[in-house]
Amino acid sequence: MPELELFLHDQYVGTVRPVSRDRSRVMLDIDRDYRQQTLLSESFTALPGRAAVSNAVSNFLGGYVPEGNHRERMAAKRHVSKDDLFALLTEFGGSIAGAVTLRTPADARPGRPSYESLSEEVLTQRLEQALRDSDQGIPDDSRSTLPGYQPKLLVARFDGQWAYPHGRAHSTHILKPQVPSRPHRIFDEYYSHQLARSVGLSRYDSWIGEAGAMTYLAIQRFDRDVDGDDVRLHHQEDLAQALNLDWRDTDVKFQDPSWPSATTRASARRIGQLLAEIPGGDAVVEEWIRQLTYHVAIGNNDAHAKNVALMHQPSGTVLAQLYDALPNFFQEGLVSWNMALAVDGEFDHRRMSVDRLRAEIADWAVIRDSRAESLISHTLASVAEAIGAVQPPQQVSSGLIEQLEWNVSRLRAGDEIGERPRG
Ligand SMILES: Nc1ncnc2c1ncn2[C@@H]1O[C@H](COP(=O)(O)OP(=O)(O)OP(=O)(O)O)[C@@H](O)[C@H]1O
Ligand SMILES: [Mg+2]
Repeated sequence: MPELELFLHDQYVGTVRPVSRDRSRVMLDIDRDYRQQTLLSESFTALPGRAAVSNAVSNFLGGYVPEGNHRERMAAKRHVSKDDLFALLTEFGGSIAGAVTLRTPADARPGRPSYESLSEEVLTQRLEQALRDSDQGIPDDSRSTLPGYQPKLLVARFDGQWAYPHGRAHSTHILKPQVPSRPHRIFDEYYSHQLARSVGLSRYDSWIGEAGAMTYLAIQRFDRDVDGDDVRLHHQEDLAQALNLDWRDTDVKFQDPSWPSATTRASARRIGQLLAEIPGGDAVVEEWIRQLTYHVAIGNNDAHAKNVALMHQPSGTVLAQLYDALPNFFQEGLVSWNMALAVDGEFDHRRMSVDRLRAEIADWAVIRDSRAESLISHTLASVAEAIGAVQPPQQVSSGLIEQLEWNVSRLRAGDEIGERPRG
């Protein structure tokens, strides 16, 4: 039977095997000598010499594989089924989000991970490939992937030069090419990065770059560090994984407006309560409140459970920096005002207010109301200051700055956001 060896950083954890009667599941047999150094996942316990719970392991590992059309196209290129978890991990599990790697017997051979330096011409071609083929632009021998629906290219950066990771070599940056049908999107995302850095919700670098006729947003990965020629990994899992949500169902990362209490799906409360259980969880809950306030303030309708993550460090677990947080209510052809996760039972962004945020957080019953109120108001004050201080790129969506100013001033006045009068 085929097997993959699961490593966390450079520690061998155990062996992953397919489940023949259900290809969407795998087994993980934990090695007898395994002694935990860094937590693998919030969703199951890795006991030495035992098999971990297959359902939770499958949702954890399935949470790292490509999603949607990326999964379909990437699986088809490798001639495997998009529903076959073991096959997806064999193809793409060499370098995923965080510090888990799934190694094949070939990986045990000596030799360094291999990178190819990328000329501007080849970079342009790869960006076009990522856009056209929804395959993350990876070479045929690559074992890298990330989740997410937007076109993206996985690359590494050494000494200011782009390089292309082959085999299980790690990427250090994500490049999001400009999508012709939504030309402002990468600029809106970049602007949000600038704001988030100014507010203190993120620290990773990002910039807008050009290669030939392609424009792209370069995003430094916070789960990688370059040390000379080596790429060091930092472990992360997203909240869909931590909550053990079904990896096969792409909708479970969103709360369901027609069944908001469904425990098969994410909610702000389920996230808040899970975070509160983490040792030292007070700081993690506080950071989640800051992130949630930021999502409401900028109007991010896509703050779902795969867009918030935990970093498991040897010293303990913290919330990952803010990522993929866009002022999304500027999408062309927007049909719904619904947020990914309700706040105080309300999905409609126009009905958001500080009182709703406080009521939502009070419902988690994990933090004092006065503390929550102070976190919300400080975050809003920082966002207001950031909007005043940050020079936005010229190509952001028209009216974006005015809308953000509107949102923040309504919230700070204690009002619902409502609809900004236009024209
Ligand atoms: N700066 C970063 N550092 C490390 N990992 C990141 C970073 N940004 C994103 N990721 C990881 O890559 C995945 C995809 O990135 P991102 O969420 O930006 O893509 P997307 O395609 O826009 O997602 P969505 O489908 O939610 O719109 C994330 O789910 C996360 O695991
Ligand atoms: Mg995302």
